[in-house]
Amino acid sequence: MLPLKDKDKPMVQMLLLAGCCARCILRFCCVSVHAAYRQPPQNTLKQLQAFISDTENSKSQDSAVPEPPEDPPSKRAKLEPGVTDAVLERDDEAAAPRVCVVCLGILQDMCGTSQAVKVSEAVKAENYEFDTVVLSVSLPAQLCVREHSCWLHVKKEVREKGLVLDKDDVIQVKEAFKWIMQGLVAKELGGIAVVTKVGNIHDEKKNILVFTRMAVVKALEKIPDFKFLKHYPCPPAQPTSSCSPQDVRCLHGSVFVAGRYNKFCRSLPQTPWVIDGERRMESSVEELIAAPLLAAFRADGFNFSSSGREDVDVRTLGNGRPFAMELLNPHRSRFNRAEMKQLQETINKSSDKIRVRDLQIVTRQAMSRMKEGEEEKTKSYTALIWTQKPIQREDITFIDDIKDLTVDQKTPLRVLHRRALAVRPRVIHSMNARFLDPHHFYLGLKTQAGTYIKEFVHGDFGRTKPNLCQLLKTDTDILELDVESVDVDWPPAIPE
Ligand SMILES: *[C@@H]1O[C@H](CO)[C@@H](O)[C@H](O)[C@H]1NC(C)=O
Ligand SMILES: *[C@@H]1O[C@H](CO)[C@@H](O)[C@H](O)[C@H]1NC(C)=O
Ligand SMILES: [Zn+2]
Repeated sequence: MLPLKDKDKPMVQMLLLAGCCARCILRFCCVSVHAAYRQPPQNTLKQLQAFISDTENSKSQDSAVPEPPEDPPSKRAKLEPGVTDAVLERDDEAAAPRVCVVCLGILQDMCGTSQAVKVSEAVKAENYEFDTVVLSVSLPAQLCVREHSCWLHVKKEVREKGLVLDKDDVIQVKEAFKWIMQGLVAKELGGIAVVTKVGNIHDEKKNILVFTRMAVVKALEKIPDFKFLKHYPCPPAQPTSSCSPQDVRCLHGSVFVAGRYNKFCRSLPQTPWVIDGERRMESSVEELIAAPLLAAFRADGFNFSSSGREDVDVRTLGNGRPFAMELLNPHRSRFNRAEMKQLQETINKSSDKIRVRDLQIVTRQAMSRMKEGEEEKTKSYTALIWTQKPIQREDITFIDDIKDLTVDQKTPLRVLHRRALAVRPRVIHSMNARFLDPHHFYLGLKTQAGTYIKEFVHGDFGRTKPNLCQLLKTDTDILELDVESVDVDWPPAIPE
């Protein structure tokens, strides 16, 4: 039986008359026993009717609303998905209003096995790998206004009877919804843990005054009762139609994959290179890495980030450059070490332009380690240098002896369109030169991260000072550049 007391009788009576559904009546009676909400609402309704009538009356009422034996509602429900509870309600139309004046049918049609099946079917259809589900429901802001009106309606009565009822004691629609649906969805999904979050619909239509739930709640807190009653019927008016559920959308939280990449090609940008809406290179590092990951994780999209970046014509050798990839809405999310290695091999084999190593699943938090202290890190490069004047033995030893040289770099002309103009001091920790022929040598550099190597070599019209031209007292230019190492100790190395 319902956990109601005699003092609740007038309230139940009033709410029934006002057109509240059985579950909303329980809410206003502050019933917090979950089972009372979980039972079929038509049973609750009958119990409520029995509760407010005399024993004889309740008997006659029971016989007045017989269950049609040859046409069980559950069978009809299966034949007509979406109209399940509405069909049930029609049977006791005389006794119950079609759509609840307070919850707009959310605790009627939208809250039951058929809806739980709909949700779980949508989840199953996506074929996700998952351990828990967050059931996130948005309710229309209008509910707050109806709730307030109904509250004012019962308040009069409650106060007259000298009873105490605080608005905060009324069980909220979202609570009742959670109590009913959470278990049903969990059951449909085979016992998976379900957490429910009930929010509110954000009306995104343009040129329409949008009331967020918070704005409505704030307004309702401020408005004096008499003013509210002047503008809004109390109890709330019978709605012409019930609230209809929108699509069920499924989303899996992002999975983050990290690793290090090598780039062996001098015509591959790191990210798609688009100028004036036109694509310049057919591929990019991020796309080459992403394609096999998207397929394996069955993800909808990705978000790539890395520890710095190299120019399109620069190779990245050595241990490679740390990167992390956020995979959006992945349908598969569990990979063991062997499977990750397999995936790494797939990426390696997919193109000879790039390779990856240390591929692993990481947390969102761990990803921030990649960007941490990026400025202080060192990077090593090898550059192929051309000199106008023939190279002398002294030039080689001169270069080899330079240690911790600070250069001031004005923002390079070639990046000025996307970077603020500034002078940045950068440290070149050490250099070494390897003679190739009288006009060419290989220059090895170990520098502070963020040093513009090309500008250091050719001087960028004197914007980088000192530069290699000044140091060697001749014109120099850079013909090729390779990144030899990016000294960021993340992600952790994976032993082969
Ligand atoms: C991609 O990552 C950035 C930075 O973390 C974030 O601001 C952005 O919202 C992400 N994009 C998507 C589609 O998740
Ligand atoms: C992929 O290539 C990298 C770089 O050459 C190498 O270290 C790694 O072992 C390769 N992994 C697989 C599984 O092929
Ligand atoms: Zn209701």
